[in-house]
Amino acid sequence: MFHEVTLLNLMSFLRLHPDTLEEIKERTNIYDTISEYVVLKRRGKNYVGLCPFHDEKTPSFTVNADKQLYYCFGCGAGGNAIKFLMEIRKEPFNQVVLELAKQHKISIKDLEEENTEILQARISLQNQLYEILATSANYYEHLLYEPIGKQALDYLINKRQLKSETISKFNLGYSPEGWETLYSYLVKCKNYPVSLLEQTGIIKPRNKGRGHYDTFRGRIMIPIKDIEGRIIAFGGRSLNNQEPKYLNSPETSLFSKSNILFALDQAYKNIRNLDHAIVVEGYFDVISLHEAGIKNTVASLGTAFSKTQLRKLLRYTDSKQIIFNFDADNAGTKAIQRMITEIDSLVYSGQVQLKILNLPSGKDADEFLKFNQNSAEKYYKLINSAPLWLGWQIEQILLDKDLKRADHFEKVVKEMMILLSKLSDYNKREYYIRHCSEILSQGDTRLIPIYLKNFQLQLAKPIANNFNSKKSKQFTKANILLEDQLLKEAEINLLKVYLRYSEYRRRISKSLEFKNLFFNTKEHRIVWTKILEIEDSHQNKNKTDKDQLSYRLQETIWESSLVETCVDQILSFSELEQHEDNERLDLIIKASLIFLEKASLKKYCYYCKIKYQMIDKNEDLVNFEYYLNEYITSKQKILKLQLSQSLSELDANDN
Ligand code: CTP
Ligand code: MN
Repeated sequence: MFHEVTLLNLMSFLRLHPDTLEEIKERTNIYDTISEYVVLKRRGKNYVGLCPFHDEKTPSFTVNADKQLYYCFGCGAGGNAIKFLMEIRKEPFNQVVLELAKQHKISIKDLEEENTEILQARISLQNQLYEILATSANYYEHLLYEPIGKQALDYLINKRQLKSETISKFNLGYSPEGWETLYSYLVKCKNYPVSLLEQTGIIKPRNKGRGHYDTFRGRIMIPIKDIEGRIIAFGGRSLNNQEPKYLNSPETSLFSKSNILFALDQAYKNIRNLDHAIVVEGYFDVISLHEAGIKNTVASLGTAFSKTQLRKLLRYTDSKQIIFNFDADNAGTKAIQRMITEIDSLVYSGQVQLKILNLPSGKDADEFLKFNQNSAEKYYKLINSAPLWLGWQIEQILLDKDLKRADHFEKVVKEMMILLSKLSDYNKREYYIRHCSEILSQGDTRLIPIYLKNFQLQLAKPIANNFNSKKSKQFTKANILLEDQLLKEAEINLLKVYLRYSEYRRRISKSLEFKNLFFNTKEHRIVWTKILEIEDSHQNKNKTDKDQLSYRLQETIWESSLVETCVDQILSFSELEQHEDNERLDLIIKASLIFLEKASLKKYCYYCKIKYQMIDKNEDLVNFEYYLNEYITSKQKILKLQLSQSLSELDANDN
């Protein structure tokens, strides 16, 4: 805390020596800096990614490594690494520069001597913490080979079957029983101040009374290192089944569990060479995999996998391939779902190619390698055939489901739909729609196109409708009312044109006949029947009478109070102008007919849906297929009509 305050005060009057600034600029790599925040993909000489400063779906954010500059073609943000950090962290220049200096261990020269000293002190505090942790690790490692650590070493060699090279490569150690062993060593032999020890998390203050005790006692010690190989924390595994099985260092200024990946220091070059990374759950999974020669492996430390961790990995793979290898038991499955929640936006948008590997019979990587022959080869084979995240999820949907059972089938379809609706990429979505349809067809290829169409249809609806159901229900209700109203108006318009413009009569009646369309509103149906009757009875007598249709209609209709108001409406001149031009009349007829056609299709569509839902497809496949197909085709026709409606609205607005 003391140091933070000093630093803040200092920053306001810090005037960096130009040498220091130059060195910071030289040592800071813009790709490394930015890839902490943005998933960058190589494109030619540059890198591109989604801009962190504005919302976008296709990458316009570019990083030029030669020039060490970034620029966004979308929002115009741009500059060097320092500018980037200032913008993204909303921090002033001095703060960013100091952080960078700290990171690269650059000694800071200030134009004023006094400030330089304070700054150096701050940086040396961190170095002291690193030193304490390194000393502790050495101590633990040393004890592993002393008589006191015999049981621990036996455990590693016999029970975990680790080679001695592996044990020393990972600097494994042993923390002895006893409350103050490490504490005494560090304070009495090494003269480290207690306050610093406490800041490393390696000792803790006693709850009662004064004094401190060792955080780790009687455990196998696994040093956790940063990318540069500096020890920043420990994991400790119990030896005699005592709980907890694993104990980790607390969060400190050097160690943040959700930002660190175990063994990244040893793995990153291999990840770069192989162009993919494997993420496992446990320390010993990583250790065993590295021992087996599979060295592009890291572990998250028992927490959900964070975006920061993912980005850290992604900067080492150009093709952005990550394989998660987690336990396949139920807890593991849920764990994977949980693990990915934070990163799933990156997965669905295609910025990461995530694969999931579940090893046979629920083993973790460590167990798999120790209990199989030629296990490294076998493991690699499995890695290569691991399903992509989406394929894996579809597999999970199908677990414990019997597609022959209607209720299971329905559930599967629903879950598939939810999954598919998350895919924003058209090609990817089409691919998985096909995949799901094939699964649902259960080997009957005739069914594939049907399910395919059905998925396409359902997914063509605005996805927003699936969410926020209260709002969407209200929306649908309002929409139905509006549709009803528009349909009524369309029918009235048709009748009006029919009565007033004799030259259009043939066209209207032919269209209705040809498409087998009816007036939907009861009153309109009655009026239409009357009109046909009048025409029929006068056809042979007197042709000029035809133009008297309106009067005849009025005459006949007096008798029926039901349609009185409706006829008034149809005969009123106010809405339809006396002399419409042909073009407009044409448009009115077309648009009105579409409404009628849509209404009739909707009825038919509903009918087919009820039909196919009632038919058991195992008993009557032919009819099932027929009605399902009819349902889908009519639904598609409706969509098409809707589209032509909105297009003609555009036309109308243009005119
Ligand atoms: N973990 C932890 N704290 C715990 C339990 C687990 O931090 N109390 C983390 C550790 O990083 C551990 C990983 O979660 O390596 C996986 O835990 P688990 O599956 O329980 O153990 P294994 O790794 O299989 O441990 P082992 O093989 O040593 O039994
Ligand atoms: Mn294990």
